[in-house]
Amino acid sequence: MTSRVALVTGGTGGIGTAIVKRLASMGHKVATNYRDEAKAKAWADKLKSEGIDVLLVKGDVSDTASAEAMIKEVESKLGPVDILINNAGITRDTTFHKMSAMQWQEVINTNLNSVFNVTRPVIDGMRNRKWGRIVQISSINGQKGQYGQANYAAAKAGMHGFTISLAQENAKFGITVNTVSPGYVATEMVMAVPEDVRNKIAAQIPVGRLGEPEEIAYAIEFFVKDEAKWITGANLAINGGQYMGW
Ligand code: CAA
Repeated sequence: MTSRVALVTGGTGGIGTAIVKRLASMGHKVATNYRDEAKAKAWADKLKSEGIDVLLVKGDVSDTASAEAMIKEVESKLGPVDILINNAGITRDTTFHKMSAMQWQEVINTNLNSVFNVTRPVIDGMRNRKWGRIVQISSINGQKGQYGQANYAAAKAGMHGFTISLAQENAKFGITVNTVSPGYVATEMVMAVPEDVRNKIAAQIPVGRLGEPEEIAYAIEFFVKDEAKWITGANLAINGGQYMGW
């Protein structure tokens, strides 16, 4: 298997960590960005103790110049980015009638504008090399909406609009662009939902439990393989059966 350079944004988070580990286990050279240096270093040390080397690069994906600088650093240290997983995301949950402009903007900037900021600097290289894999980590709530998440659902639905446009523009260049839409996975983000609300949501999952980060990372392996070259513009729901729209 060819060893490629993979960038996972937000790789230190719950789903991000599982994706980083999965890509590394496939033999790829993996980089991720961070904003909190101490937290990121501790995270990288833990992975190193498990035999996984990850390049940490300081970068704020919600900021165009910072994202450009981050890509430059990854490319100078590891080489051109062939695999990009747009995974970084945050929540600022509240009902819309109570939502501040800042809660709206923070989520749109980090979850959706980031996809422009990070993908724009890598797309020309992928087109020139005639190979690329781009995966957006969206959400079940981009597909079905969620009480208290007008900002998040708008950003996550927007990510898939981006996917299906980019997929069309780049299909002739050996680049596939897909979306993975996780449901409620047992990460810090989901555990921050008040317990009573979370229990009600978990009760709506036919498989009968929250997901595991590794169950999302499994799909990333699938999409980035050479053999997946005819799969582009897809939106794969991984949600324990909570939402089966099509
Ligand atoms: N449908 C209908 N009504 C609902 C509802 C729902 N899903 N959720 C809450 N309500 C109602 C409540 O029953 C309550 O009604 P009454 O006043 O008549 O009793 C009213 O709305 C207010 O509810 P809360 O007391 O919960 O209101 P709040 O202002 O304290 O909190 C909230 C609102 C922030 C939206 C909170 O309910 C919440 O955090 N919900 C979970 C949101 C969520 O799912 N976030 C996902 C985070 S994880 C993630 O995003 C990862 C991913 O991709 C899946």
